[in-house]
Amino acid sequence: MDTVIVREGQQDFHQKVAEAGEAIKNGKLVVFPTETVFGLGANALDDEACKGIYRAKGRPSDNPLIVHVSDMEMAFSLIKEYDDRFIKLAEAFWQGPISFVLKKNDRVCETVSAGLDTVAIRMPNHDIALELIRCSGVPIAAPSANISGRPSPTRSEHVIFDLSSRVDYIICSDTFPIGLESTVLDLSSEETVILRPGWVTAKMIEEKTGISVKSHDTNKEVSVPKSPGTKYKHYSPKAKVFMVDENFLASDVESFSKSKAVDSEKTKLLSYENDVEMAKNLFADFRQADKDGYELIIVKPATDGDLLEANLNRLKKACEN
Ligand code: TXA
Ligand code: MG
Repeated sequence: MDTVIVREGQQDFHQKVAEAGEAIKNGKLVVFPTETVFGLGANALDDEACKGIYRAKGRPSDNPLIVHVSDMEMAFSLIKEYDDRFIKLAEAFWQGPISFVLKKNDRVCETVSAGLDTVAIRMPNHDIALELIRCSGVPIAAPSANISGRPSPTRSEHVIFDLSSRVDYIICSDTFPIGLESTVLDLSSEETVILRPGWVTAKMIEEKTGISVKSHDTNKEVSVPKSPGTKYKHYSPKAKVFMVDENFLASDVESFSKSKAVDSEKTKLLSYENDVEMAKNLFADFRQADKDGYELIIVKPATDGDLLEANLNRLKKACEN
Protein backbone atom coordinates (compact mmCIF):
# COMPACT_ATOMS: atom_id res chain seq x y z
CA MET A 1 0.00 0.00 0.00
CA ASP A 2 1.27 3.51 -0.83
CA THR A 3 1.27 5.75 2.22
CA VAL A 4 0.87 9.50 1.74
CA ILE A 5 3.12 11.29 4.23
CA VAL A 6 1.81 14.74 5.19
CA ARG A 7 4.14 17.17 6.99
CA GLU A 8 3.05 20.05 9.18
CA GLY A 9 5.05 22.72 7.36
CA GLN A 10 4.06 21.82 3.79
CA GLN A 11 2.20 24.38 1.70
CA ASP A 12 -0.95 22.36 1.02
CA PHE A 13 -1.08 20.94 4.56
CA HIS A 14 -4.71 21.79 5.33
CA GLN A 15 -5.83 20.50 1.95
CA LYS A 16 -4.04 17.21 2.68
CA VAL A 17 -5.67 16.96 6.12
CA ALA A 18 -9.04 17.49 4.42
CA GLU A 19 -8.18 14.71 1.96
CA ALA A 20 -7.18 12.43 4.84
CA GLY A 21 -10.48 13.24 6.58
CA GLU A 22 -12.38 12.28 3.44
CA ALA A 23 -10.32 9.08 3.27
CA ILE A 24 -11.31 8.20 6.87
CA LYS A 25 -14.96 8.71 6.00
CA ASN A 26 -14.47 6.31 3.09
CA GLY A 27 -13.01 3.49 5.17
CA LYS A 28 -9.28 4.24 4.97
CA LEU A 29 -6.62 4.35 7.72
CA VAL A 30 -4.93 7.59 8.82
CA VAL A 31 -2.18 8.07 11.41
CA PHE A 32 -2.46 11.43 13.18
CA PRO A 33 -0.85 13.28 16.08
CA THR A 34 -2.60 13.90 19.41
CA GLU A 35 -1.36 15.58 22.60
CA THR A 36 -0.62 12.15 24.17
CA VAL A 37 0.81 9.83 21.50
CA PHE A 38 0.10 9.32 17.78
CA GLY A 39 -3.15 7.52 16.90
CA LEU A 40 -3.99 5.06 14.10
CA GLY A 41 -7.46 6.16 13.03
CA ALA A 42 -10.46 4.77 11.17
CA ASN A 43 -14.17 5.63 10.96
CA ALA A 44 -15.66 4.40 14.26
CA LEU A 45 -19.00 3.75 12.56
CA ASP A 46 -17.51 1.46 9.90
CA ASP A 47 -16.81 -2.08 11.06
CA GLU A 48 -14.64 -3.09 8.08
CA ALA A 49 -12.51 0.04 8.43
CA CYS A 50 -11.95 -0.65 12.13
CA LYS A 51 -10.93 -4.24 11.39
CA GLY A 52 -8.20 -2.69 9.27
CA ILE A 53 -6.76 -1.04 12.41
CA TYR A 54 -6.30 -4.42 14.07
CA ARG A 55 -4.67 -5.82 10.93
CA ALA A 56 -2.29 -2.88 10.51
CA LYS A 57 -1.18 -3.05 14.17
CA GLY A 58 -1.28 -6.81 14.61
CA ARG A 59 -3.52 -6.12 17.62
CA PRO A 60 -5.48 -8.79 19.54
CA SER A 61 -9.13 -8.41 18.55
CA ASP A 62 -10.53 -8.42 22.11
CA ASN A 63 -8.78 -5.15 22.93
CA PRO A 64 -11.26 -2.27 22.31
CA LEU A 65 -10.44 1.10 20.75
CA ILE A 66 -10.80 4.67 22.02
CA VAL A 67 -13.10 6.85 19.88
CA HIS A 68 -11.98 10.44 19.26
CA VAL A 69 -14.56 13.20 18.89
CA SER A 70 -14.34 16.91 18.07
CA ASP A 71 -17.35 18.16 20.07
CA MET A 72 -19.93 17.12 22.67
CA GLU A 73 -22.62 16.50 20.09
CA MET A 74 -20.44 13.85 18.49
CA ALA A 75 -19.77 12.30 21.90
CA PHE A 76 -23.50 12.16 22.71
CA SER A 77 -24.16 10.53 19.34
CA LEU A 78 -22.26 7.44 20.52
CA ILE A 79 -23.66 6.80 23.99
CA LYS A 80 -26.77 5.21 25.35
CA GLU A 81 -26.77 6.74 28.80
CA TYR A 82 -24.72 9.05 30.98
CA ASP A 83 -25.10 10.98 34.20
CA ASP A 84 -23.84 14.23 35.74
CA ARG A 85 -20.37 12.83 36.22
CA PHE A 86 -19.76 12.79 32.48
CA ILE A 87 -20.87 16.40 32.02
CA LYS A 88 -18.80 17.64 34.95
CA LEU A 89 -15.71 15.70 33.91
CA ALA A 90 -15.95 16.69 30.24
CA GLU A 91 -16.28 20.34 31.28
CA ALA A 92 -13.25 20.05 33.53
CA PHE A 93 -10.89 18.02 31.35
CA TRP A 94 -11.89 18.10 27.66
CA GLN A 95 -10.27 18.78 25.32
CA GLY A 96 -7.60 16.72 27.02
CA PRO A 97 -5.81 13.49 27.84
CA ILE A 98 -8.67 11.54 29.43
CA SER A 99 -11.03 8.94 27.92
CA PHE A 100 -14.43 8.20 29.46
CA VAL A 101 -15.94 4.71 29.29
CA LEU A 102 -19.73 4.88 28.89
CA LYS A 103 -22.57 2.59 27.79
CA LYS A 104 -22.51 2.66 23.99
CA ASN A 105 -25.36 2.77 21.50
CA ASP A 106 -25.69 0.80 18.25
CA ARG A 107 -23.93 3.39 16.08
CA VAL A 108 -20.57 2.34 17.53
CA CYS A 109 -19.44 -0.61 15.44
CA GLU A 110 -18.82 -4.02 17.04
CA THR A 111 -15.11 -4.00 16.27
CA VAL A 112 -14.52 -0.77 18.21
CA SER A 113 -15.93 -2.13 21.44
CA ALA A 114 -14.61 -5.69 20.95
CA GLY A 115 -17.79 -7.22 22.28
CA LEU A 116 -18.22 -4.93 25.33
CA ASP A 117 -21.40 -2.87 25.80
CA THR A 118 -19.33 0.25 26.45
CA VAL A 119 -17.22 2.68 24.46
CA ALA A 120 -14.21 4.79 25.51
CA ILE A 121 -14.46 8.37 24.18
CA ARG A 122 -11.92 11.17 24.15
CA MET A 123 -11.79 14.73 22.79
CA PRO A 124 -8.09 15.34 22.12
CA ASN A 125 -6.42 18.66 22.83
CA HIS A 126 -4.61 18.87 19.50
CA ASP A 127 -5.44 21.16 16.58
CA ILE A 128 -4.50 18.68 13.85
CA ALA A 129 -6.45 15.82 15.46
CA LEU A 130 -9.53 18.05 15.82
CA GLU A 131 -9.18 19.35 12.25
CA LEU A 132 -9.00 15.76 10.96
CA ILE A 133 -12.11 14.68 12.90
CA ARG A 134 -14.05 17.73 11.69
CA CYS A 135 -12.98 17.15 8.08
CA SER A 136 -14.02 13.50 8.25
CA GLY A 137 -17.35 14.37 9.86
CA VAL A 138 -17.28 11.08 11.79
CA PRO A 139 -15.91 9.94 15.17
CA ILE A 140 -12.46 8.38 14.74
CA ALA A 141 -11.48 5.14 16.49
CA ALA A 142 -7.76 5.17 17.20
CA PRO A 143 -5.37 3.13 19.28
CA SER A 144 -1.78 4.24 19.69
CA ALA A 145 -0.11 4.06 16.28
CA ASN A 146 2.52 1.43 17.05
CA ILE A 147 2.85 -2.20 16.05
CA SER A 148 1.10 -4.04 18.89
CA GLY A 149 3.35 -4.59 21.90
CA ARG A 150 5.93 -1.95 20.91
CA PRO A 151 6.47 1.39 22.68
CA SER A 152 3.80 3.97 21.80
CA PRO A 153 4.95 6.46 19.14
CA THR A 154 5.75 9.98 20.30
CA ARG A 155 7.72 11.27 17.29
CA SER A 156 6.85 11.34 13.58
CA GLU A 157 9.79 9.08 12.72
CA HIS A 158 8.34 6.36 15.01
CA VAL A 159 5.05 6.13 13.12
CA ILE A 160 6.81 6.23 9.76
CA PHE A 161 9.07 3.38 10.95
CA ASP A 162 6.20 1.24 12.31
CA LEU A 163 3.36 1.87 9.88
CA SER A 164 4.36 3.26 6.49
CA SER A 165 2.99 0.99 3.75
CA ARG A 166 0.39 -0.34 6.24
CA VAL A 167 -1.85 2.78 6.26
CA ASP A 168 -3.18 5.28 3.70
CA TYR A 169 -1.98 8.54 5.30
CA ILE A 170 0.49 9.53 7.98
CA ILE A 171 0.12 13.09 9.28
CA CYS A 172 3.36 14.16 10.97
CA SER A 173 3.75 16.83 13.63
CA ASP A 174 6.76 18.74 14.91
CA THR A 175 5.53 19.27 18.45
CA PHE A 176 6.44 16.73 21.13
CA PRO A 177 3.42 15.26 22.88
CA ILE A 178 2.96 14.49 26.59
CA GLY A 179 4.23 10.99 25.79
CA LEU A 180 1.75 9.12 28.02
CA GLU A 181 -1.53 7.72 26.74
CA SER A 182 -4.76 9.15 28.14
CA THR A 183 -6.17 8.27 31.54
CA VAL A 184 -9.02 5.76 30.98
CA LEU A 185 -11.88 6.41 33.42
CA ASP A 186 -14.85 4.07 33.74
CA LEU A 187 -18.19 5.88 34.14
CA SER A 188 -20.32 2.96 32.99
CA SER A 189 -21.31 1.88 36.49
CA GLU A 190 -21.86 3.66 39.79
CA GLU A 191 -18.24 3.55 40.86
CA THR A 192 -15.84 5.87 39.07
CA VAL A 193 -12.73 3.80 38.37
CA ILE A 194 -9.40 4.58 36.72
CA LEU A 195 -8.75 1.64 34.38
CA ARG A 196 -5.47 3.05 33.08
CA PRO A 197 -3.52 5.81 34.86
CA GLY A 198 -2.42 8.77 32.75
CA TRP A 199 -1.74 12.51 32.84
CA VAL A 200 -5.04 13.26 34.61
CA THR A 201 -4.77 11.79 38.12
CA ALA A 202 -7.39 10.77 40.70
CA LYS A 203 -6.31 13.75 42.80
CA MET A 204 -6.91 16.20 39.92
CA ILE A 205 -10.34 14.69 39.27
CA GLU A 206 -11.32 14.92 42.93
CA GLU A 207 -10.02 18.47 43.29
CA LYS A 208 -11.67 19.80 40.12
CA THR A 209 -15.00 17.98 40.23
CA GLY A 210 -15.47 16.59 43.75
CA ILE A 211 -15.99 13.13 42.24
CA SER A 212 -14.18 10.44 44.18
CA VAL A 213 -12.27 7.93 42.15
CA LYS A 214 -11.09 4.36 42.64
CA SER A 215 -8.04 2.91 41.03
CA HIS A 216 -8.34 -0.44 39.29
CA ASP A 217 -5.40 -2.64 40.24
CA THR A 218 -4.04 -3.59 36.83
CA ASN A 219 -1.42 -5.82 38.43
CA LYS A 220 -4.06 -8.16 39.84
CA GLU A 221 -5.03 -11.12 37.68
CA VAL A 222 -8.75 -10.98 36.95
CA SER A 223 -10.62 -13.42 34.75
CA VAL A 224 -12.42 -10.73 32.71
CA PRO A 225 -10.27 -7.61 32.80
CA LYS A 226 -12.35 -4.41 32.86
CA SER A 227 -9.95 -2.86 30.38
CA PRO A 228 -8.76 -5.68 28.12
CA GLY A 229 -5.71 -3.77 26.92
CA THR A 230 -4.15 -3.87 30.35
CA LYS A 231 -3.49 -7.62 30.15
CA TYR A 232 -1.33 -7.61 27.02
CA LYS A 233 2.38 -7.30 26.37
CA HIS A 234 2.99 -3.59 26.10
CA TYR A 235 5.41 -0.75 25.57
CA SER A 236 8.34 -3.11 24.95
CA PRO A 237 11.54 -2.35 23.15
CA LYS A 238 13.54 -5.30 21.79
CA ALA A 239 16.08 -4.90 24.61
CA LYS A 240 15.23 -6.35 28.03
CA VAL A 241 14.13 -3.65 30.49
CA PHE A 242 14.89 -3.55 34.22
CA MET A 243 13.85 -0.97 36.79
CA VAL A 244 16.22 0.09 39.58
CA ASP A 245 15.78 2.42 42.56
CA GLU A 246 17.32 5.79 43.37
CA ASN A 247 20.38 4.17 45.01
CA PHE A 248 21.57 2.73 41.71
CA LEU A 249 24.72 4.45 40.42
CA ALA A 250 26.28 4.62 36.97
CA SER A 251 29.17 2.66 38.45
CA ASP A 252 26.76 -0.24 39.14
CA VAL A 253 26.03 -0.78 35.44
CA GLU A 254 28.95 -3.11 34.93
CA SER A 255 28.08 -5.59 37.70
CA PHE A 256 24.36 -5.40 36.86
CA SER A 257 25.06 -6.23 33.21
CA LYS A 258 27.31 -9.10 34.25
CA SER A 259 24.56 -10.54 36.46
CA LYS A 260 22.31 -10.61 33.38
CA ALA A 261 25.09 -12.06 31.20
CA VAL A 262 25.19 -8.96 28.99
CA ASP A 263 28.26 -6.96 28.00
CA SER A 264 28.09 -3.57 29.75
CA GLU A 265 28.81 -1.90 26.39
CA LYS A 266 25.41 -3.25 25.33
CA THR A 267 23.63 -1.77 28.36
CA LYS A 268 21.88 1.60 28.33
CA LEU A 269 21.12 3.38 31.61
CA LEU A 270 18.13 5.73 31.41
CA SER A 271 17.85 8.00 34.42
CA TYR A 272 15.03 10.52 34.93
CA GLU A 273 14.99 13.30 37.51
CA ASN A 274 11.57 14.62 36.66
CA ASP A 275 8.22 12.87 36.05
CA VAL A 276 7.16 15.07 33.11
CA GLU A 277 10.50 14.63 31.38
CA MET A 278 10.25 10.85 31.93
CA ALA A 279 6.75 10.66 30.39
CA LYS A 280 7.86 12.72 27.40
CA ASN A 281 10.96 10.69 26.67
CA LEU A 282 10.61 7.10 27.94
CA PHE A 283 9.09 5.57 24.79
CA ALA A 284 11.37 7.57 22.49
CA ASP A 285 14.41 6.54 24.56
CA PHE A 286 13.36 2.86 24.34
CA ARG A 287 13.16 3.12 20.58
CA GLN A 288 16.50 4.93 20.34
CA ALA A 289 18.18 2.24 22.49
CA ASP A 290 16.89 -0.44 20.09
CA LYS A 291 18.14 1.54 17.13
CA ASP A 292 21.57 1.83 18.75
CA GLY A 293 21.70 -1.94 19.29
CA TYR A 294 21.53 -2.11 23.10
CA GLU A 295 20.48 -5.45 24.61
CA LEU A 296 19.70 -4.29 28.14
CA ILE A 297 17.99 -1.10 29.33
CA ILE A 298 18.19 -0.12 32.99
CA VAL A 299 15.68 2.55 34.00
CA LYS A 300 16.03 4.70 37.08
CA PRO A 301 12.62 6.41 37.18
CA ALA A 302 11.66 9.80 38.57
CA THR A 303 10.46 9.08 42.10
CA ASP A 304 7.75 11.69 42.62
CA GLY A 305 5.36 14.07 40.84
CA ASP A 306 1.81 13.74 39.52
CA LEU A 307 2.84 11.33 36.77
CA LEU A 308 4.57 8.87 39.10
CA GLU A 309 1.79 6.27 38.95
CA ALA A 310 1.31 6.44 35.19
CA ASN A 311 5.06 6.32 34.53
CA LEU A 312 5.55 3.29 36.78
CA ASN A 313 2.54 1.56 35.21
CA ARG A 314 4.14 1.81 31.72
CA LEU A 315 7.62 0.97 32.96
CA LYS A 316 6.52 -2.13 34.93
CA LYS A 317 4.71 -3.47 31.87
CA ALA A 318 7.80 -2.91 29.74
CA CYS A 319 9.83 -4.84 32.37
CA GLU A 320 7.44 -7.82 32.31
CA ASN A 321 8.18 -8.72 28.70
O1 TXA B 1 -3.95 8.74 24.60
C1 TXA B 1 -4.54 7.77 24.15
O2 TXA B 1 -5.47 7.23 24.76
C2 TXA B 1 -4.11 7.23 22.77
C3 TXA B 1 -4.37 8.33 21.74
C4 TXA B 1 -4.15 7.86 20.33
O3 TXA B 1 -5.65 8.85 21.93
N1 TXA B 1 -4.79 6.02 22.46
C5 TXA B 1 -4.49 4.84 23.09
O4 TXA B 1 -5.23 3.76 22.64
O5 TXA B 1 -3.67 4.73 23.96
P1 TXA B 1 -4.84 2.26 22.97
O6 TXA B 1 -5.70 1.45 22.08
O7 TXA B 1 -3.38 2.04 22.83
O8 TXA B 1 -5.33 2.05 24.43
C6 TXA B 1 -6.71 2.03 24.73
C7 TXA B 1 -6.94 1.54 26.12
C8 TXA B 1 -6.74 0.05 26.24
O9 TXA B 1 -6.16 -0.25 27.49
C9 TXA B 1 -8.16 -0.48 26.13
O10 TXA B 1 -8.33 -1.74 26.74
C10 TXA B 1 -8.95 0.62 26.85
O11 TXA B 1 -8.30 1.82 26.47
N2 TXA B 1 -10.35 0.67 26.39
C11 TXA B 1 -10.84 1.04 25.19
N3 TXA B 1 -12.18 0.91 25.16
C12 TXA B 1 -12.57 0.46 26.36
C13 TXA B 1 -13.82 0.10 26.94
N4 TXA B 1 -14.96 0.20 26.26
N5 TXA B 1 -13.83 -0.33 28.22
C14 TXA B 1 -12.68 -0.43 28.91
N6 TXA B 1 -11.45 -0.14 28.42
C15 TXA B 1 -11.39 0.31 27.16
MG1 MG C 1 -1.41 1.31 22.94
